[in-house]
Amino acid sequence: MLRLRARARSRQGTARATLTTPAAKFSLNRRTGGWVLHDAGGLEVFRCTTTDFTGSASEFALRLAEGESIFGLGESSGPFNKRGLIREFWNADVLGHASCIHPGLKNLYVSIPFALSLREGRAGGLFWHNPGRQIWDIGCTEPEEFRLRAATGALDVYLFLGPTPADVVARFTELTGRIPLPPRWALGYHQSRYGYANREELEQIAREFRRRKIPCDALHLDIHHMDGHRVFTFGRSFPRPREMLARLARHGFKAVAIVDPGVKADPQFGVLKRGRARRAFVKTRDGRRDFVGKVWPGKSLFPDFLNPSVRHWWAQEQAAFQKLGLAGIWNDMNEPALFDTPGKTLPDACEHLNPDFQAVAEPNQPSQVRSNRTSHAALHNLYGSAMAEASHDGALLAAPDRRPFVLTRSGYAGIQRHAAVWTGDNSSSWEHLAESIPMLLNLSLSGVAFCGADVGGFLGDCTGELLTRWTQLAAFTPFFRNHANIDSRRQEPWAFGPRTEALCRDAITLRYQMLPYLECLFAEARRTGAPIMRPLLWHHPNDPAAVVCDDQFLLGESLLVAPILRPGARARSVYLPRGLWFDFWSGGLYEGGQHIIAEAVAEHIPVFVRAGAAIPTGTPRQSLSGERDTTVNLHVWPHGRSQLVWHEDDGESLGYQRGQFSTRQVECVDRGTVRELVLGQAEGSFPSQTLAWRVILRCVRRNYRVWVNGERVPAEFDPTLGICLFEVPNRPVAMVVRWR
Ligand code: GLC
Repeated sequence: MLRLRARARSRQGTARATLTTPAAKFSLNRRTGGWVLHDAGGLEVFRCTTTDFTGSASEFALRLAEGESIFGLGESSGPFNKRGLIREFWNADVLGHASCIHPGLKNLYVSIPFALSLREGRAGGLFWHNPGRQIWDIGCTEPEEFRLRAATGALDVYLFLGPTPADVVARFTELTGRIPLPPRWALGYHQSRYGYANREELEQIAREFRRRKIPCDALHLDIHHMDGHRVFTFGRSFPRPREMLARLARHGFKAVAIVDPGVKADPQFGVLKRGRARRAFVKTRDGRRDFVGKVWPGKSLFPDFLNPSVRHWWAQEQAAFQKLGLAGIWNDMNEPALFDTPGKTLPDACEHLNPDFQAVAEPNQPSQVRSNRTSHAALHNLYGSAMAEASHDGALLAAPDRRPFVLTRSGYAGIQRHAAVWTGDNSSSWEHLAESIPMLLNLSLSGVAFCGADVGGFLGDCTGELLTRWTQLAAFTPFFRNHANIDSRRQEPWAFGPRTEALCRDAITLRYQMLPYLECLFAEARRTGAPIMRPLLWHHPNDPAAVVCDDQFLLGESLLVAPILRPGARARSVYLPRGLWFDFWSGGLYEGGQHIIAEAVAEHIPVFVRAGAAIPTGTPRQSLSGERDTTVNLHVWPHGRSQLVWHEDDGESLGYQRGQFSTRQVECVDRGTVRELVLGQAEGSFPSQTLAWRVILRCVRRNYRVWVNGERVPAEFDPTLGICLFEVPNRPVAMVVRWR
């Protein structure tokens, strides 16, 4: 990783400066401000042709190589590869952001000025750390030029070497941080609606899930729960919240409450009074008066989350609220979104007092930072992240050893350290279903591993078929929540009759069976920064067909998901990267490196498994609260090799940060006639709850003889299912399981 911080162009001294390390060579032309980065093999990673400063703005231009693709850029609508587009980084509230509705849409709720470049299979990365407004013209105006411009702030750029996408993202997340492990329940299914209007309705929803045996772990409380939209309150429609939340918890439901930044300008309101006493609100341009703007509560004041002492105060307010029994906090409108200002956010000239982000002033822009006051324009994109950080801290104040769950709409680079991200107000359309894939993939590549879209779509009316296909897709995305708007038709899994209900139940149940695999992937994301939901290029950067693929994705390395994205479709074209792949449902074997036509019955979408994969699964359950399974199913597919780090912890506490987890390498090796499963020695101080592994050899035609560390164990063959099954007791020592 290389950091460039430029101030103004120097015209003195030697024209060229060179920095050489074993991994790279960087040469700067002092006269033009141009530079070039080569990797150790002498191949060019980036070439900057010019750097310029005008007034408070700075800009530089990169040369795009032939065939170079650009990914990442946080959250955006439109195509997966961003080359040929203009992208603006300025967090904004955008209703119905599908590119078919807003073809030229340039900015959304989350800004991550990070690009992953791919040139002939080699990856490089660039991050411009500047939370002010940026505009990137990625070969739109000039096809071979990538022009990056910031309206304010410093030119503070980091360059990351590959050669693989995994290397780049590992380095980028080393800098900006990786996800903490969420509580296990947060990996389950969430149900939401704007809004469940009162306690009876919410409790009825909870009862329906259990009565209909549809697994569900979380219910979200949208703005209806509040007393006149006063943050951190419950209104009269939700009486005795403590008792209500305890009751839900007894039935295995966690409650997540929405918390918007706007604090109602009601002089009697406690949060407002305490905030004012601490000078906690964003100021008007004179730095003295509190800025007042309109949002859900009407006239509101906006906490200055950029200031650490304000975050601390907010965390305390939230902790008191959360102690009523709320398991999670949902930060919305935190761009921040305003109803009545011209830019629908805080005016640029608003002042932040004592922010802990130093918006470094260029020598030629002295007015931007005046001592401890910074203009909103210079910090705008950090507001949502700073609020999420305060929420995360608040959750820890409420319960110091419980894993926080914070969901946010807005954020900046590094948001993954404090919150999961959902992609805001999409719509109930097939186009939006399709767009959710490149959107989530680019967010994932930008470090935000825990992300998801509103299942079924937020705006407009969903249909049974759309909800089914969306639920079938989203069962494989990291965050899995059905949410709909106040004037949309009902969208709970049973809202479209028994057939849709049954199909959604099956998809959600499959998600719960996949939980052990998902937990391993979350642990990997925490360890290495690798996304949970991955584009095909992650594992196949040299395969041009895999690189352009934006309507399929990988869950970890081993599952390839090819969702159905059109109404009535009963088949679709699927690209299988090189190697052998099994149809997850039928067991059919395919040679990769080609497109195939996959059937898509109503019951499920096409899913493929990499040959040689080992995938741990669990027993279906209604909610994830309660004991872990004591037997883990390990499905093993033939013809190949694979590796997985098995991860186990208590799913709730922060013990994992103190080493209280258990891991072991799970490796499958094909040695011709003999196959081997190597379970490495268990590591970490968490006492494993797993008593046994139920190994299920998939797609086999006969029974096998099986040895565990040289000792025969009995195996059973089921010819109808084509599986061979045996149990391996889980001992912490290394174990070699062989079958032939
Ligand atoms: C915003 C959110 C949406 C929420 C609504 C009401 O539009 O994006 O999810 O339901 O506000 O709070």
